[in-house]
Amino acid sequence: MSEAILLVGGQGTRLRPLTSHTPKPLLPVAGVPFLAHQLARAAAAGVTRIVFATSYLAELFERAFDGWDFGLELVYATEREPLGTGGAIRNAAKHLTCDPGDPVLVFNGDILSGVDIAALREGHRGTGADVTLHLTRVSDPRAFGLVPTDPDGRVTAFLEKPQTPEQIVTDQINAGCYVFTRSVIDRIPAGRVVSVERATFPTLLAENALVRGVVDDTYWLDLGTPAALVKGSADLVRGRIDSPALPGPTGDALVLPGARVDPDAVLSGGTVVGEGARISAGAVVEGTVVLPGARISAGAVVYHSVIGRDAEIGAGTTADTVVIGDGARVGSGNELPPGLRIGCGATVDDESVRTSAAPTLCPPRTALPSGVRHASSAAR
Ligand code: GDD
Ligand code: MG
Repeated sequence: MSEAILLVGGQGTRLRPLTSHTPKPLLPVAGVPFLAHQLARAAAAGVTRIVFATSYLAELFERAFDGWDFGLELVYATEREPLGTGGAIRNAAKHLTCDPGDPVLVFNGDILSGVDIAALREGHRGTGADVTLHLTRVSDPRAFGLVPTDPDGRVTAFLEKPQTPEQIVTDQINAGCYVFTRSVIDRIPAGRVVSVERATFPTLLAENALVRGVVDDTYWLDLGTPAALVKGSADLVRGRIDSPALPGPTGDALVLPGARVDPDAVLSGGTVVGEGARISAGAVVEGTVVLPGARISAGAVVYHSVIGRDAEIGAGTTADTVVIGDGARVGSGNELPPGLRIGCGATVDDESVRTSAAPTLCPPRTALPSGVRHASSAAR
């Protein structure tokens, strides 16, 4: 028996508009809801029971895994108001069945990683630590929790999202996978907002608890941004990171059942074409996530982008590193610039967006290049 808690209650703000209707952990990555990769890896590491700590769009999680069999018991703990990462762990702990001295794995729900989960758990048990943290190294640690360690691997500080250059004391970051001794979780205050990164870890360090960091340099990616989501999906499709949940053989592209790809279209770079999607003749699609029901018309060229559910890219349109919301319709002959985000259900007229004339970033609900209409104005 080995139990885990999965933190999946965040709003996925950096992935809007993709996360308007779908929680980040359920976005399709390499053809399956992202969590399927994490659940399959956890099961392979001997985890037998997982408590989902849900909040945002909580009701969608149970439905998403109906009919799946990971060989895991899935249990759900929903927060009425988001309790933060520490509060969520504490709230989920009411569903744990293990003893106070047993190890409990905790995963952020947006991490694709090759870490040896079983070795992390066994190392924790062997050292009698209060908490063991998986750490990885990144070239720019500013968006993460910095975790310096001493030569014995003991964590000496925890600096979440450093604000000043002086705070950047290490390239080791919290990789979002922990082993807690159960009794440590039970001491987190219940029923209120707590950040594990800003409160629980610093408090444990101040109390001189044994907090260990295990640096592991295998594959690691936080899928919290569109660029990372696209990269993670393409890396899975190309076999750069293994997943027992990949729904097909590795290769240049993955085409899901029910998708139609014209023989004169070119797919490459780990592109995935979701169920019921269509790619027409002469289209070139590289390193892109095409969600179920989307359509890429003849001669369109799409690089490193996410095309939302049932969205449409018109004939001859080019797009590089864009995010197209569910049900949006981009007309023909457009040149979508890098970073452009089109809201769910929005419409882009034919030949109305040209790379040179358009701003480089267009989040939904702010200035749009001429020719782009949000769903609400399109409906008027
Ligand atoms: N249930 C619940 N409730 N889950 C939450 C809540 C909440 O109130 N807030 C966040 N989560 C979940 C998210 O769904 C995600 O799976 C995880 O907690 C981490 O939240 P993110 O929003 O992805 O945080 P981050 O990426 O900015 O930073 C975290 O991960 C980094 C590694 O990728 C921190 O843990 C950093 O220290 C770490 O370096
Ligand atoms: Mg994250």
